[in-house]
Amino acid sequence: MPNPFFNKKIITVDTIKKDDLSILFKKADEMKNLVKEKGGDDRLKGKIMAALFYEPSSRTMGSFVSAMQRLGGGFIPISGMANTSVSKGETLEDTGKVYSSYVDVIVMRHAEPGSVAQLAKAALVPVINAGDGINEHPTQALLDAYTIKQELGHLDNLRIVFWGDIGHYRPVNSLAKLMTLFPTTTMTFVSPPEVKLQDSVRNYIQRKNINIRETEDIQEVISSADILYVTRVKKEYMDEDLYHKIQGKYILNLSLVKKMKAKSLIMHPLPRVGEIKEEVDSDPRAAYITKQMPNGMYIRMALLDLILKKQ
Ligand code: NCD
Repeated sequence: MPNPFFNKKIITVDTIKKDDLSILFKKADEMKNLVKEKGGDDRLKGKIMAALFYEPSSRTMGSFVSAMQRLGGGFIPISGMANTSVSKGETLEDTGKVYSSYVDVIVMRHAEPGSVAQLAKAALVPVINAGDGINEHPTQALLDAYTIKQELGHLDNLRIVFWGDIGHYRPVNSLAKLMTLFPTTTMTFVSPPEVKLQDSVRNYIQRKNINIRETEDIQEVISSADILYVTRVKKEYMDEDLYHKIQGKYILNLSLVKKMKAKSLIMHPLPRVGEIKEEVDSDPRAAYITKQMPNGMYIRMALLDLILKKQ
């Protein structure tokens, strides 16, 4: 099968097909073995990645940089706006054009929804969205889906419960949209009313005929979840009043975890700020530290290899 990722940008999960996932996951398995056996190789020698992170990042930037280096490539790391020409007033389009002559791929994070698409339109190299405001975080969804497949063995017939600040949470938007590729998925969104699912995401999911439910009460649904996807309150995207209203209002502790199915998963893209108690970390269902994080690096290695080389 031809490589569907070659030379392609990844701005949203909307363009990803079911068959693409099989190709990506097979490559991620290969990367996992490669890292375990030799740490990496130099298949991307001579290729360079720009990591333009205009918003804070620990995992996404770290795993992209590690992925590139494990495959022998180089990188230019940009953290924050302050030291860039964007702070002097340069347009994203100009930055995209300029970096296209330095690098082979651009990974970008920015607070403004649509900003990555804007730069990608002007860039002459593939651009990967590493999070654009409250919009999307496609590579997080890909690593989440890979983790679900690895841990539960399949992506069909799953009941996913998303919990917390749903309205500001790009990993939820991307994963919920991606899971519509599996028509037997059911989704429940549990959130305070102020931070409900965005209308555009709800419409997208409903257009794909996926069964969704929205509630404020986790107790109603926790025992039927195959996946409980917990989120952080996105303090940086709301005013103080709203933050104080929601922060600390939902917390996953062991007594709640005990109500979950024996074979289920607790996921979180991290960072967490109190919404999952440390006592949950050693539960066998907890996937956020020991499963999602390493998988993030394997998926990003796989993506970089597939985007940069025809195979
Ligand atoms: C998430 C993000 O930036 O969207 N983090 C991540 O990439 N792992 C979630 C968050 O900021 O809380």
